[in-house]
Amino acid sequence: MSAKIYIPGDAGSVALGADKVACRMAETIAALGVEAQIIRNGSRGLYWLEPMVEVETEKGRVAYGPVKPSDVDKLLDGGLLDGADHPLCLGLTEEIPFLKRQTRLTFARCGITDPLSVSDYRNHGGLAGLENALGMKPQDIVAQVTDSGLRGRGGAGFPTGIKWKTVLEAQGPQKYIVCNADEGDSGTFADRMIMEGDPFVVIEGMVIAGIATGATKGYVYLRSEYPHAIRVMDRAVEIAREHNILGASVLGSDHAFDMEIRVGAGAYVCGEETALLESLEGRRGVVRAKPPLPAHKGFLGRPTVVNNVISLASVPVIMEKGAEFYRDFGMGRSRGTIPVQIAGNVKHGGLFEAAFGMTLGELVDDIAGGTASGRPVKAVQVGGPLGAYFPRELFDTPFDYEAFAGKDGLIGHAGIVVFDDTADMLKQARFAFEFCAVESCGKCTPCRIGSTRGVEVADNIRAGTDTENQITLMTDLCNTMKFGSLCALGGFTPYPVMSALTHFPEDFRPAPMSQAAE
Ligand SMILES: Cc1cc2nc3c(=O)[nH]c(=O)nc-3n(C[C@H](O)[C@H](O)[C@H](O)COP(=O)(O)O)c2cc1C
Ligand code: SF4
Repeated sequence: MSAKIYIPGDAGSVALGADKVACRMAETIAALGVEAQIIRNGSRGLYWLEPMVEVETEKGRVAYGPVKPSDVDKLLDGGLLDGADHPLCLGLTEEIPFLKRQTRLTFARCGITDPLSVSDYRNHGGLAGLENALGMKPQDIVAQVTDSGLRGRGGAGFPTGIKWKTVLEAQGPQKYIVCNADEGDSGTFADRMIMEGDPFVVIEGMVIAGIATGATKGYVYLRSEYPHAIRVMDRAVEIAREHNILGASVLGSDHAFDMEIRVGAGAYVCGEETALLESLEGRRGVVRAKPPLPAHKGFLGRPTVVNNVISLASVPVIMEKGAEFYRDFGMGRSRGTIPVQIAGNVKHGGLFEAAFGMTLGELVDDIAGGTASGRPVKAVQVGGPLGAYFPRELFDTPFDYEAFAGKDGLIGHAGIVVFDDTADMLKQARFAFEFCAVESCGKCTPCRIGSTRGVEVADNIRAGTDTENQITLMTDLCNTMKFGSLCALGGFTPYPVMSALTHFPEDFRPAPMSQAAE
């Protein structure tokens, strides 16, 4: 039997040199006449170790990383194919603490299987959820998803089962499933990783959503900045059609479901579900007033489920193992697991899937290993560009939707971005306003005008003119934006601004003159 060598082909690993490592590996095994097969898997999500090469051995997979093309010859010489020891050897992959401590339900196959192999997918539990769903009534599928406690992973945390029930009960000649793969939040990459590493789980989740709600057509709205994911998803859809996972008769049943990949044009606001639908219909991405909800009048005015990639990708395991199994993980009203994306100034950046309930401090100090710079952590922004900055005093906050809301923060798409003590929080507050000004769709005044006024106020504070009045003005402006904006872009920009001001007030006031200056 030929040896199996796994080298990730996802965009993150490729950016770190995985293609070059794979080329070098192919050349060298050909030159040596070694029987070995290179599989381009998804990333395991340990990005500080990418490109991470794995080989299958009798004991299990053994990992090496981060591997450079210049390491390849020596690794092969030194017995890579037998999992031999080497300075780059990380031991058995499953025993690497960052991976071992995770509970991978949604990402169970990511980095393990060949992303485009249906047989690999099936052999690792894929399609079992869909097969179960095909034997159930739509109402029962919806009930299972509701009972699992799954809440939308795109940002708002809305219960997925309730959204599906609304679409199931809505009347219309055609219903749609739209997968939101716009993934615009800073420091997030879970959607990309799963689309590139396990695309069939997204497709399976969409088909189950279709059967549950009576929708026969789906779209993935995928950001143009993800060319690798677009390529993998396009190919996966073709393969799924060839295997009757998609088409007129899903797995030989009397259910029909087909889908397409649509590419966005690069606007943060197009991740907002109604702006996304405008864009999907060929118009400029401008937010629609609600009601009507997309569940009643969505794509082309028809009942539409809009769900995040991870929400949909979490459905197959729920349908395979049952609502109770999934609901058993987590805390409070946050059930199941959450793939946290650790980014910014950290030693160990990557994807960490765990049951809800881990504290922010555990994630930052322990799992992420503190800052890459070695300096103290000053702040952590949780939940993307509209998320609050958390100081160390709030590190005991558990990952739980309600707990974060209770601290004037949000989990959002579960991205955390870490900053060390050199961060200037006034600059970050200014950035939040500037981001909002650049990305605003322009439909409502508090966001369109308020964001630009916010940049000016931040500049006045920086200039040190009339500081206290300007800080009062900034607070007033935030209240106006929070309560007067039509969508969360304008409505949540106050979170990063006010958290910076509340937790780091010293960054907003001129430094006292030093003795020498006096
Ligand atoms: C400005 C803005 C940007 C958003 N961007 C995204 C995004 O990139 N991906 C996403 O899934 N949801 C995004 N959302 C949330 C969506 O509007 C919507 O709540 C989500 O797609 C619903 O899916 P879920 O219930 O599965 O989370 C955004 C919301 C706002 C206000
Ligand atoms: S808050 Fe901003 S992005 Fe949202 S509708 Fe208003 S102008 Fe558009």
